Amino acid sequence: MNDPNGLIYHRGRYHLFYQHNPHAPVWGHMSWGHAVGRSLLDWEDGPVALPEQPDYMIFSGSAVTDRADTAGFGAGALVAIYTAHYRDDREAQSLAYSLDNGQQWTLFESNPVLIDPERPHVRDPQVFWYEPGGYWVMAVARADDHQVAFYASDDLKRWELLSTFGPAGCWQEAPHWECPVLIELPVAGTDRTHWLLKVDVDGGALAGGSGAQYFTGQFDGTRFMPDDPSDQVRWVEAGPDFYAAQVFNHLPAGRQVWLGWMNNWRYANALPTHPWRGMLTVPRELVLVETNDRYHLVQRPCREFYERMQPVDALPLGQPFPLPEAGLLRLRLRIDGQGTWHCRFFTGTTCGVVLGYDAANRLLFLDRREAGQTDFSPDFPGCFQVRLPSNAPEELELEILFDRYSLEVFAPEVHLVLSALVFPKPGDNSVWEQGEGRCLVEGTCWRYVVAQAEDERKS
Ligand code: FRU
Repeated sequence: MNDPNGLIYHRGRYHLFYQHNPHAPVWGHMSWGHAVGRSLLDWEDGPVALPEQPDYMIFSGSAVTDRADTAGFGAGALVAIYTAHYRDDREAQSLAYSLDNGQQWTLFESNPVLIDPERPHVRDPQVFWYEPGGYWVMAVARADDHQVAFYASDDLKRWELLSTFGPAGCWQEAPHWECPVLIELPVAGTDRTHWLLKVDVDGGALAGGSGAQYFTGQFDGTRFMPDDPSDQVRWVEAGPDFYAAQVFNHLPAGRQVWLGWMNNWRYANALPTHPWRGMLTVPRELVLVETNDRYHLVQRPCREFYERMQPVDALPLGQPFPLPEAGLLRLRLRIDGQGTWHCRFFTGTTCGVVLGYDAANRLLFLDRREAGQTDFSPDFPGCFQVRLPSNAPEELELEILFDRYSLEVFAPEVHLVLSALVFPKPGDNSVWEQGEGRCLVEGTCWRYVVAQAEDERKS
Protein backbone atom coordinates (compact mmCIF):
# COMPACT_ATOMS: atom_id res chain seq x y z
CA MET A 1 0.00 0.00 0.00
CA ASN A 2 0.88 3.64 -0.26
CA ASP A 3 -1.34 6.68 0.41
CA PRO A 4 -4.40 6.53 2.68
CA ASN A 5 -7.48 7.53 0.66
CA GLY A 6 -11.11 8.41 1.31
CA LEU A 7 -10.86 8.49 5.12
CA ILE A 8 -14.37 8.91 6.41
CA TYR A 9 -16.77 8.25 9.25
CA HIS A 10 -19.91 7.00 7.49
CA ARG A 11 -23.04 5.58 9.13
CA GLY A 12 -21.37 4.57 12.38
CA ARG A 13 -18.24 3.06 10.87
CA TYR A 14 -14.80 4.37 10.03
CA HIS A 15 -13.60 3.69 6.50
CA LEU A 16 -10.02 3.69 5.36
CA PHE A 17 -9.31 3.25 1.67
CA TYR A 18 -5.74 3.14 0.45
CA GLN A 19 -3.56 3.04 -2.66
CA HIS A 20 -3.06 -0.63 -3.25
CA ASN A 21 -1.51 -2.98 -5.76
CA PRO A 22 -3.58 -6.19 -5.59
CA HIS A 23 -1.03 -8.11 -7.66
CA ALA A 24 2.43 -7.45 -6.16
CA PRO A 25 4.12 -5.84 -3.15
CA VAL A 26 5.51 -2.96 -5.23
CA TRP A 27 3.82 0.14 -6.66
CA GLY A 28 1.61 -0.57 -9.69
CA HIS A 29 -1.95 -1.44 -10.85
CA MET A 30 -3.16 1.23 -8.44
CA SER A 31 -6.56 0.46 -6.94
CA TRP A 32 -8.36 1.45 -3.75
CA GLY A 33 -8.07 -1.14 -0.99
CA HIS A 34 -10.65 -0.87 1.78
CA ALA A 35 -10.57 -1.41 5.53
CA VAL A 36 -13.53 -0.81 7.86
CA GLY A 37 -13.08 0.19 11.48
CA ARG A 38 -15.31 0.17 14.51
CA SER A 39 -12.88 2.69 15.98
CA LEU A 40 -9.94 4.70 14.72
CA LEU A 41 -7.66 1.86 15.87
CA ASP A 42 -9.42 -1.41 15.03
CA TRP A 43 -9.48 -2.11 11.31
CA GLU A 44 -10.59 -5.06 9.30
CA ASP A 45 -9.28 -5.32 5.79
CA GLY A 46 -11.79 -6.20 3.10
CA PRO A 47 -11.97 -6.74 -0.65
CA VAL A 48 -10.64 -4.14 -3.10
CA ALA A 49 -13.19 -1.33 -3.43
CA LEU A 50 -12.12 0.37 -6.66
CA PRO A 51 -9.98 -1.81 -8.92
CA GLU A 52 -7.73 -0.50 -11.67
CA GLN A 53 -9.65 0.05 -14.94
CA PRO A 54 -8.60 -1.00 -18.45
CA ASP A 55 -7.61 2.54 -19.42
CA TYR A 56 -6.61 4.05 -16.09
CA MET A 57 -5.34 3.43 -12.59
CA ILE A 58 -7.21 4.76 -9.56
CA PHE A 59 -4.94 7.26 -7.84
CA SER A 60 -5.49 9.06 -4.55
CA GLY A 61 -8.61 10.95 -3.56
CA SER A 62 -11.17 11.42 -0.85
CA ALA A 63 -14.69 10.33 0.10
CA VAL A 64 -17.76 12.21 1.32
CA THR A 65 -21.22 11.32 2.54
CA ASP A 66 -23.71 13.09 0.27
CA ARG A 67 -26.43 13.54 2.92
CA ALA A 68 -28.57 15.94 0.88
CA ASP A 69 -28.18 13.92 -2.32
CA THR A 70 -26.58 16.84 -4.14
CA ALA A 71 -25.21 14.49 -6.81
CA GLY A 72 -28.44 12.53 -7.26
CA PHE A 73 -26.83 9.15 -6.58
CA GLY A 74 -29.11 8.61 -3.59
CA ALA A 75 -29.43 10.31 -0.20
CA GLY A 76 -26.51 9.42 2.04
CA ALA A 77 -24.48 7.91 -0.80
CA LEU A 78 -20.82 7.37 -0.09
CA VAL A 79 -19.04 9.18 -2.93
CA ALA A 80 -15.38 8.71 -3.80
CA ILE A 81 -13.61 11.47 -5.72
CA TYR A 82 -10.38 10.08 -7.13
CA THR A 83 -7.76 10.78 -9.76
CA ALA A 84 -7.95 8.66 -12.89
CA HIS A 85 -4.40 8.19 -14.10
CA TYR A 86 -4.61 7.19 -17.79
CA ARG A 87 -2.24 4.97 -19.75
CA ASP A 88 -0.94 8.03 -21.64
CA ASP A 89 0.07 9.57 -18.27
CA ARG A 90 -2.71 12.18 -18.23
CA GLU A 91 -4.82 12.67 -15.10
CA ALA A 92 -8.41 13.76 -14.44
CA GLN A 93 -10.80 13.69 -11.48
CA SER A 94 -13.61 11.13 -11.40
CA LEU A 95 -16.42 9.88 -9.19
CA ALA A 96 -17.66 6.53 -7.92
CA TYR A 97 -20.49 5.94 -5.46
CA SER A 98 -21.74 3.28 -3.14
CA LEU A 99 -25.20 2.87 -1.62
CA ASP A 100 -24.23 -0.02 0.67
CA ASN A 101 -21.50 1.47 2.84
CA GLY A 102 -18.64 0.90 0.48
CA GLN A 103 -19.20 -2.76 -0.44
CA GLN A 104 -20.30 -2.26 -4.05
CA TRP A 105 -19.31 0.67 -6.18
CA THR A 106 -20.61 2.23 -9.38
CA LEU A 107 -18.38 4.39 -11.52
CA PHE A 108 -20.21 7.57 -12.54
CA GLU A 109 -21.19 7.22 -16.22
CA SER A 110 -20.11 10.76 -17.18
CA ASN A 111 -16.59 10.55 -15.75
CA PRO A 112 -14.29 12.40 -15.62
CA VAL A 113 -15.87 15.35 -13.83
CA LEU A 114 -12.83 17.60 -13.94
CA ILE A 115 -10.15 17.88 -16.62
CA ASP A 116 -7.53 20.58 -16.91
CA PRO A 117 -6.71 20.65 -20.63
CA GLU A 118 -3.54 22.63 -19.99
CA ARG A 119 -2.10 20.37 -17.31
CA PRO A 120 -1.58 16.62 -17.60
CA HIS A 121 -0.79 16.14 -13.90
CA VAL A 122 -3.55 17.34 -11.61
CA ARG A 123 -4.18 14.88 -8.82
CA ASP A 124 -5.22 13.87 -5.32
CA PRO A 125 -8.55 15.71 -4.84
CA GLN A 126 -9.54 16.43 -1.25
CA VAL A 127 -13.24 17.26 -1.08
CA PHE A 128 -15.18 18.57 1.90
CA TRP A 129 -18.46 20.35 2.57
CA TYR A 130 -17.89 24.06 3.12
CA GLU A 131 -20.67 24.90 5.55
CA PRO A 132 -20.60 28.74 5.47
CA GLY A 133 -21.04 28.73 1.68
CA GLY A 134 -23.20 25.62 1.38
CA TYR A 135 -21.08 23.99 -1.34
CA TRP A 136 -18.40 21.38 -1.83
CA VAL A 137 -14.77 22.49 -1.99
CA MET A 138 -12.01 20.55 -3.69
CA ALA A 139 -8.30 21.13 -3.11
CA VAL A 140 -6.26 19.41 -5.80
CA ALA A 141 -2.55 19.43 -6.67
CA ARG A 142 -1.30 20.86 -9.95
CA ALA A 143 1.68 18.62 -9.48
CA ASP A 144 4.15 20.03 -12.04
CA ASP A 145 3.25 23.68 -11.33
CA HIS A 146 3.70 23.36 -7.54
CA GLN A 147 0.24 24.75 -7.01
CA VAL A 148 -2.94 23.78 -5.23
CA ALA A 149 -6.13 24.63 -7.13
CA PHE A 150 -9.40 25.16 -5.26
CA TYR A 151 -12.71 24.37 -6.93
CA ALA A 152 -16.36 24.65 -5.81
CA SER A 153 -19.34 22.52 -6.72
CA ASP A 154 -23.02 22.22 -5.83
CA ASP A 155 -23.36 18.64 -7.00
CA LEU A 156 -19.85 17.04 -7.04
CA LYS A 157 -20.15 16.82 -10.84
CA ARG A 158 -19.59 20.37 -12.15
CA TRP A 159 -16.58 22.14 -10.68
CA GLU A 160 -15.75 25.82 -10.92
CA LEU A 161 -12.22 27.10 -10.35
CA LEU A 162 -12.06 29.40 -7.31
CA SER A 163 -8.38 30.22 -6.96
CA THR A 164 -4.89 28.77 -6.81
CA PHE A 165 -2.12 28.81 -4.22
CA GLY A 166 1.60 28.47 -4.88
CA PRO A 167 4.35 27.99 -5.73
CA ALA A 168 5.44 28.65 -2.16
CA GLY A 169 7.51 27.08 0.59
CA CYS A 170 9.35 24.01 -0.68
CA TRP A 171 8.95 23.74 -4.45
CA GLN A 172 12.19 24.40 -6.32
CA GLU A 173 13.76 21.29 -4.76
CA ALA A 174 10.62 19.22 -5.32
CA PRO A 175 9.72 17.49 -8.59
CA HIS A 176 6.00 17.63 -7.69
CA TRP A 177 3.41 18.86 -5.22
CA GLU A 178 0.97 16.13 -4.19
CA CYS A 179 -1.81 15.27 -1.73
CA PRO A 180 -3.09 18.67 -0.50
CA VAL A 181 -5.21 18.93 2.65
CA LEU A 182 -7.10 22.15 3.50
CA ILE A 183 -8.55 22.04 6.99
CA GLU A 184 -10.02 24.33 9.65
CA LEU A 185 -8.46 23.62 13.04
CA PRO A 186 -9.19 24.71 16.59
CA VAL A 187 -6.69 27.13 18.11
CA ALA A 188 -5.70 25.58 21.44
CA GLY A 189 -6.94 27.41 24.53
CA THR A 190 -9.36 29.62 22.56
CA ASP A 191 -12.74 29.22 20.90
CA ARG A 192 -11.28 30.36 17.60
CA THR A 193 -10.33 28.37 14.52
CA HIS A 194 -7.73 28.94 11.85
CA TRP A 195 -6.91 27.18 8.58
CA LEU A 196 -4.06 24.91 7.60
CA LEU A 197 -2.98 23.85 4.14
CA LYS A 198 -0.74 20.78 3.99
CA VAL A 199 1.07 19.99 0.75
CA ASP A 200 3.44 17.12 0.12
CA VAL A 201 6.63 17.17 -1.90
CA ASP A 202 7.95 14.02 -3.55
CA GLY A 203 11.57 15.14 -3.10
CA GLY A 204 13.55 17.80 -1.23
CA ALA A 205 11.89 17.32 2.17
CA LEU A 206 13.62 18.12 5.47
CA ALA A 207 14.66 14.54 6.26
CA GLY A 208 15.40 13.72 2.59
CA GLY A 209 13.09 12.41 -0.10
CA SER A 210 9.33 12.83 0.24
CA GLY A 211 7.65 14.75 3.05
CA ALA A 212 4.92 17.15 4.10
CA GLN A 213 4.99 20.93 4.53
CA TYR A 214 2.26 23.23 5.82
CA PHE A 215 1.03 26.77 5.63
CA THR A 216 -1.35 28.43 8.10
CA GLY A 217 -3.80 31.10 7.02
CA GLN A 218 -7.40 32.03 6.29
CA PHE A 219 -9.77 30.42 3.86
CA ASP A 220 -12.76 32.58 2.94
CA GLY A 221 -14.56 30.10 0.74
CA THR A 222 -12.66 31.20 -2.35
CA ARG A 223 -9.04 31.77 -1.54
CA PHE A 224 -6.39 30.56 0.89
CA MET A 225 -4.44 33.53 2.26
CA PRO A 226 -1.26 32.49 4.11
CA ASP A 227 -0.30 34.24 7.35
CA ASP A 228 3.32 34.41 6.31
CA PRO A 229 3.92 35.58 2.74
CA SER A 230 7.65 34.78 3.03
CA ASP A 231 8.87 31.55 1.55
CA GLN A 232 9.99 30.00 4.82
CA VAL A 233 9.27 26.28 4.74
CA ARG A 234 7.45 24.69 7.67
CA TRP A 235 7.62 20.94 7.91
CA VAL A 236 4.95 18.70 9.39
CA GLU A 237 7.65 16.30 10.60
CA ALA A 238 11.35 16.18 11.36
CA GLY A 239 11.37 12.45 10.62
CA PRO A 240 11.64 10.72 7.24
CA ASP A 241 8.45 8.62 7.20
CA PHE A 242 5.24 10.61 7.01
CA TYR A 243 3.61 11.16 3.63
CA ALA A 244 0.30 11.58 1.83
CA ALA A 245 -1.65 12.24 5.04
CA GLN A 246 -5.41 12.67 4.80
CA VAL A 247 -8.01 13.87 7.28
CA PHE A 248 -11.18 11.98 8.15
CA ASN A 249 -14.33 13.55 6.75
CA HIS A 250 -17.46 13.84 8.94
CA LEU A 251 -15.92 12.74 12.25
CA PRO A 252 -18.37 13.10 15.17
CA ALA A 253 -18.01 16.19 17.39
CA GLY A 254 -16.02 18.04 14.72
CA ARG A 255 -12.79 16.22 15.53
CA GLN A 256 -9.90 16.77 13.15
CA VAL A 257 -7.78 13.65 12.79
CA TRP A 258 -5.36 12.58 10.10
CA LEU A 259 -3.02 9.72 9.46
CA GLY A 260 -0.17 9.35 7.00
CA TRP A 261 1.57 6.70 5.01
CA MET A 262 4.57 5.80 7.16
CA ASN A 263 7.08 5.68 4.36
CA ASN A 264 9.26 7.56 1.95
CA TRP A 265 9.33 7.17 -1.82
CA ARG A 266 13.15 6.85 -1.65
CA TYR A 267 12.89 3.26 -0.42
CA ALA A 268 9.18 2.39 -0.34
CA ASN A 269 9.49 -0.39 -2.92
CA ALA A 270 12.45 -2.02 -1.16
CA LEU A 271 11.29 -2.40 2.46
CA PRO A 272 12.31 -5.80 3.89
CA THR A 273 8.84 -7.07 4.82
CA HIS A 274 6.92 -9.99 3.42
CA PRO A 275 4.28 -10.61 2.11
CA TRP A 276 2.98 -7.13 2.97
CA ARG A 277 4.67 -3.81 2.31
CA GLY A 278 3.56 -0.39 3.47
CA MET A 279 1.84 0.83 6.63
CA LEU A 280 0.17 3.85 8.20
CA THR A 281 0.94 6.01 11.22
CA VAL A 282 -1.24 6.20 14.29
CA PRO A 283 -4.26 8.49 13.74
CA ARG A 284 -3.29 11.92 15.04
CA GLU A 285 -5.44 14.65 16.55
CA LEU A 286 -4.65 18.10 15.15
CA VAL A 287 -4.71 21.56 16.72
CA LEU A 288 -2.99 24.86 16.11
CA VAL A 289 -1.04 26.51 18.90
CA GLU A 290 -0.49 30.25 18.76
CA THR A 291 2.77 31.77 20.03
CA ASN A 292 3.94 35.33 19.33
CA ASP A 293 1.27 35.68 16.65
CA ARG A 294 2.46 32.55 14.87
CA TYR A 295 0.49 29.36 14.48
CA HIS A 296 2.14 25.99 14.88
CA LEU A 297 0.68 22.63 13.98
CA VAL A 298 0.59 20.26 16.95
CA GLN A 299 -0.14 16.58 16.48
CA ARG A 300 -0.84 14.00 19.19
CA PRO A 301 -1.92 10.38 18.99
CA CYS A 302 -5.73 10.22 18.93
CA ARG A 303 -7.33 9.95 22.37
CA GLU A 304 -8.48 6.36 21.79
CA PHE A 305 -4.83 5.38 21.67
CA TYR A 306 -4.25 6.44 25.28
CA GLU A 307 -7.28 4.43 26.41
CA ARG A 308 -5.44 1.30 25.26
CA MET A 309 -2.37 1.89 27.42
CA GLN A 310 -1.62 -0.40 30.32
CA PRO A 311 1.23 0.64 32.64
CA VAL A 312 4.24 -1.67 32.56
CA ASP A 313 6.91 -0.05 34.71
CA ALA A 314 9.18 2.88 35.30
CA LEU A 315 12.06 2.92 32.84
CA PRO A 316 15.22 1.87 34.72
CA LEU A 317 18.16 4.23 34.28
CA GLY A 318 21.31 2.96 32.65
CA GLN A 319 20.27 -0.62 31.95
CA PRO A 320 18.42 -2.53 29.25
CA PHE A 321 14.72 -3.11 29.74
CA PRO A 322 12.50 -5.41 27.66
CA LEU A 323 9.97 -3.53 25.58
CA PRO A 324 6.47 -4.89 25.08
CA GLU A 325 5.62 -5.59 21.44
CA ALA A 326 3.93 -2.23 21.06
CA GLY A 327 3.28 0.70 23.36
CA LEU A 328 4.36 4.06 24.60
CA LEU A 329 7.36 5.45 26.45
CA ARG A 330 6.68 8.71 28.20
CA LEU A 331 9.87 10.56 29.10
CA ARG A 332 10.62 13.85 30.78
CA LEU A 333 13.98 15.30 29.79
CA ARG A 334 15.87 18.17 31.35
CA ILE A 335 17.15 20.01 28.32
CA ASP A 336 19.15 22.80 29.92
CA GLY A 337 21.93 20.45 31.06
CA GLN A 338 25.22 19.45 29.49
CA GLY A 339 26.44 16.39 27.66
CA THR A 340 24.49 13.95 25.59
CA TRP A 341 21.57 11.77 26.47
CA HIS A 342 20.56 8.62 24.57
CA CYS A 343 17.85 6.10 24.59
CA ARG A 344 18.44 3.06 22.41
CA PHE A 345 15.40 1.26 21.09
CA PHE A 346 15.43 -2.30 19.75
CA THR A 347 18.89 -3.12 21.07
CA GLY A 348 20.27 -6.63 21.49
CA THR A 349 22.45 -7.89 18.68
CA THR A 350 22.61 -4.39 17.11
CA CYS A 351 22.95 -0.95 18.71
CA GLY A 352 19.38 -0.09 17.93
CA VAL A 353 17.79 3.21 17.00
CA VAL A 354 19.16 6.03 19.07
CA LEU A 355 16.83 8.76 20.23
CA GLY A 356 19.22 11.34 21.61
CA TYR A 357 19.61 14.84 22.87
CA ASP A 358 22.81 16.85 22.46
CA ALA A 359 22.47 19.56 25.10
CA ALA A 360 25.37 21.75 23.93
CA ASN A 361 23.75 22.15 20.52
CA ARG A 362 20.14 21.74 21.68
CA LEU A 363 19.69 19.00 19.09
CA LEU A 364 17.12 16.26 19.35
CA PHE A 365 17.98 13.41 17.01
CA LEU A 366 16.90 9.99 15.85
CA ASP A 367 19.66 7.83 14.43
CA ARG A 368 18.74 4.58 12.70
CA ARG A 369 22.10 3.94 10.99
CA GLU A 370 22.99 1.01 13.26
CA ALA A 371 19.54 -0.38 13.82
CA GLY A 372 18.67 -3.85 12.57
CA GLN A 373 18.31 -4.19 8.84
CA THR A 374 19.29 -1.06 6.91
CA ASP A 375 21.09 -2.35 3.82
CA PHE A 376 18.08 -2.81 1.52
CA SER A 377 18.49 0.77 0.28
CA PRO A 378 21.39 3.26 0.53
CA ASP A 379 18.79 5.94 1.31
CA PHE A 380 17.41 4.23 4.39
CA PRO A 381 20.12 4.63 7.07
CA GLY A 382 20.24 8.14 8.45
CA CYS A 383 20.31 10.46 11.42
CA PHE A 384 17.48 12.95 11.59
CA GLN A 385 17.97 15.94 13.83
CA VAL A 386 16.20 19.09 14.80
CA ARG A 387 17.24 22.06 16.94
CA LEU A 388 14.93 22.87 19.82
CA PRO A 389 13.68 26.46 19.96
CA SER A 390 15.20 28.76 22.58
CA ASN A 391 11.83 29.15 24.31
CA ALA A 392 11.44 25.39 24.88
CA PRO A 393 10.49 24.46 28.46
CA GLU A 394 13.36 23.32 30.71
CA GLU A 395 11.74 19.97 31.10
CA LEU A 396 10.45 18.53 27.88
CA GLU A 397 7.88 15.78 27.59
CA LEU A 398 8.46 13.16 24.91
CA GLU A 399 5.98 10.49 23.96
CA ILE A 400 7.42 7.69 21.89
CA LEU A 401 5.10 5.23 20.24
CA PHE A 402 6.88 2.05 19.40
CA ASP A 403 5.62 -0.84 17.34
CA ARG A 404 7.30 -3.77 15.67
CA TYR A 405 8.65 -1.67 12.80
CA SER A 406 8.23 1.92 13.85
CA LEU A 407 8.89 4.78 16.21
CA GLU A 408 6.76 7.91 16.34
CA VAL A 409 8.25 10.56 18.62
CA PHE A 410 5.93 13.35 19.76
CA ALA A 411 7.17 16.50 21.53
CA PRO A 412 4.01 18.63 21.54
CA GLU A 413 5.47 21.46 23.65
CA VAL A 414 7.94 22.24 20.87
CA HIS A 415 5.51 21.26 18.08
CA LEU A 416 7.66 18.38 16.86
CA VAL A 417 7.06 14.91 15.52
CA LEU A 418 9.64 12.46 14.20
CA SER A 419 8.40 9.27 12.59
CA ALA A 420 10.74 6.58 11.39
CA LEU A 421 10.49 3.03 10.16
CA VAL A 422 12.94 0.55 11.64
CA PHE A 423 13.53 -3.13 10.97
CA PRO A 424 15.02 -4.69 14.12
CA LYS A 425 16.60 -8.15 14.07
CA PRO A 426 14.27 -10.73 15.64
CA GLY A 427 14.59 -10.67 19.43
CA ASP A 428 16.15 -7.20 19.56
CA ASN A 429 13.48 -5.75 21.78
CA SER A 430 15.21 -3.88 24.59
CA VAL A 431 15.24 -0.22 25.34
CA TRP A 432 18.36 1.17 27.05
CA GLU A 433 18.56 4.62 28.60
CA GLN A 434 22.11 6.02 28.67
CA GLY A 435 22.59 9.53 30.00
CA GLU A 436 25.77 11.44 30.62
CA GLY A 437 24.31 14.60 31.98
CA ARG A 438 21.42 13.01 33.94
CA CYS A 439 18.96 14.41 31.51
CA LEU A 440 16.16 12.01 32.14
CA VAL A 441 13.90 13.14 34.95
CA GLU A 442 11.32 10.44 34.61
CA GLY A 443 10.40 7.64 32.23
CA THR A 444 7.47 5.25 32.16
CA CYS A 445 6.61 2.42 29.82
CA TRP A 446 3.11 1.44 28.70
CA ARG A 447 1.88 -1.55 26.78
CA TYR A 448 -0.67 -1.24 23.96
CA VAL A 449 -3.58 -3.60 24.49
CA VAL A 450 -5.34 -4.75 21.34
CA ALA A 451 -9.14 -4.56 21.69
CA GLN A 452 -11.08 -7.78 21.47
CA ALA A 453 -13.01 -8.33 18.27
CA GLU A 454 -16.74 -7.60 18.51
CA ASP A 455 -17.81 -11.27 18.24
CA GLU A 456 -15.28 -12.33 20.89
CA ARG A 457 -16.67 -9.75 23.26
CA LYS A 458 -20.23 -10.89 22.69
CA SER A 459 -19.42 -14.51 23.45
C1 FRU B 1 1.57 10.09 -3.52
C2 FRU B 1 1.10 9.67 -4.90
C3 FRU B 1 -0.10 10.49 -5.31
C4 FRU B 1 -0.78 9.58 -6.29
C5 FRU B 1 -0.52 8.21 -5.71
C6 FRU B 1 -0.34 7.13 -6.73
O1 FRU B 1 2.26 9.10 -2.84
O2 FRU B 1 2.16 9.80 -5.83
O3 FRU B 1 0.21 11.75 -5.84
O4 FRU B 1 -2.15 9.84 -6.39
O5 FRU B 1 0.64 8.32 -4.93
O6 FRU B 1 -0.23 5.88 -6.13
